[in-house]
Amino acid sequence: MLLGRRAERKAIERLLADARSRRSGVLVVRGEAGIGKTAILEYAHGAASGFRVERAVGVESEMEFAFAGLHQLCAPLLDRLGALPEPQQAALGVAFGMRAGDPPDRFLVGLASLNLLAEVSEERPLLCLVDDAQWLDAASAQTLAFVARRVDAERVALVLALRDHSPDPSDAHPFAGLLEPVLDGLGAADAQALLATGVRTPLDERIRDRIIAEARGNPLALLELPRSAEPAKLAGGFGLPDALSVPRRIEKSFQRRSRSLPAETQLLLLVAAAEPLGDTALLRGAAESLGIDAEAAAPAKAAELLDIGARVRFLHPLVRSAVYRAAALSDRRRVHRALAAATDPQADPDHRAWHRAQATLGVDETIAVELERLAGRAWTRGGPAAAAAFLEQAVVLTPEPADRARRALAAAHATHQAGASEAALELLTVAAAVSRPTDSVPL
Ligand SMILES: Nc1ncnc2c1ncn2[C@@H]1O[C@H](COP(=O)(O)OP(=O)(O)OP(=O)(O)O)[C@@H](O)[C@H]1O
Ligand SMILES: [Mg+2]
Repeated sequence: MLLGRRAERKAIERLLADARSRRSGVLVVRGEAGIGKTAILEYAHGAASGFRVERAVGVESEMEFAFAGLHQLCAPLLDRLGALPEPQQAALGVAFGMRAGDPPDRFLVGLASLNLLAEVSEERPLLCLVDDAQWLDAASAQTLAFVARRVDAERVALVLALRDHSPDPSDAHPFAGLLEPVLDGLGAADAQALLATGVRTPLDERIRDRIIAEARGNPLALLELPRSAEPAKLAGGFGLPDALSVPRRIEKSFQRRSRSLPAETQLLLLVAAAEPLGDTALLRGAAESLGIDAEAAAPAKAAELLDIGARVRFLHPLVRSAVYRAAALSDRRRVHRALAAATDPQADPDHRAWHRAQATLGVDETIAVELERLAGRAWTRGGPAAAAAFLEQAVVLTPEPADRARRALAAAHATHQAGASEAALELLTVAAAVSRPTDSVPL
């Protein structure tokens, strides 16, 4: 079900109504990954009763193959090719590799495509859906833009989705002049409704607000952020982004953008990913102690990954997880150590202890004791989820089996209170495993 998107639905309905009454038109939906472009295309499909619907999808690995995208769209229509003038038939025939010949004239190919769509729409109105248009081969993109600019009194509706979020696309953009404004995130009420569809356990309010804030209305992030992390892990800003699965589409685009960044910039990205509060001063402090130059932020901004202003903000909500996941464990520890050192022990002992714990390899009773104390505080302030997160971390760091069992039990209790029953059961198993066999574990 499509939540929100009132303006887009209206635009689609108008486009379809116009096409029914012989006023062809085009809509180019664009926005960041996961913002809901394909969902809008699906909506258009659902609303297009009485239409013939044809599709094409840009495929990254086919960008080098001229006319591959256009061929997807037109192949099912080619039985009507005979209705076109011979030079246009020849141009399309050569473009699609069905005939031998010199490279076809682009203008003729455009004209032929336009006429083919017009011809087909004589039978029934025609809806063409083109997804991932950013990955169309250049020849197809050019031809479709040509068609989109010239459709007029046929019964053709074109809807294209384009992953792109520059506020001012340049005049050289293949679809320049046709682009809609960038899609915004969902509003707060729709974001909450979508988040609720993705989680099985009840979320406490703080966690929910935090996910909503981090997702910034991006539907993919709203569905993915809570998916693989137990609610306790996200508690009070202590969740680590590596617990989350990053959809492949985000991971790939992130890797492409980050690959060529200087090592210092990559380390800076990791500091930002490991610091859940988005606190600029803290980021600067930690970066300085790691010897990262202030200039290192510029390439991250240019690659549209990170923006450091009054707050630190990843430009796509799922990039934070992707950065953290891609980092080596030793780098993660180094970065958490720097963050612990940069965190004020008076003002924010919780985060300091949390970062120290993340920086520790193996066991450390001192830090485990500190975490247990913080868990107690969190608990009395009514935060079972934060308490659970602290205790879970304490269990990992505890050297003595008896202490480990005790803390695992407490963690199980807090986790259960926080609404994550499966995670609580896992902790009970830990507690049982380290208890002496004669001990009975109170359940
Ligand atoms: N308005 C909405 N209401 C409910 N669910 C939505 C809405 N928009 C998107 N979704 C869901 O969010 C997820 C991501 O949306 P979608 O795949 O449409 O993003 P996209 O913009 O096409 O991303 P990409 O650039 O990666 O192709 C999908 O599971 C989709 O069903
Ligand atoms: Mg899509």
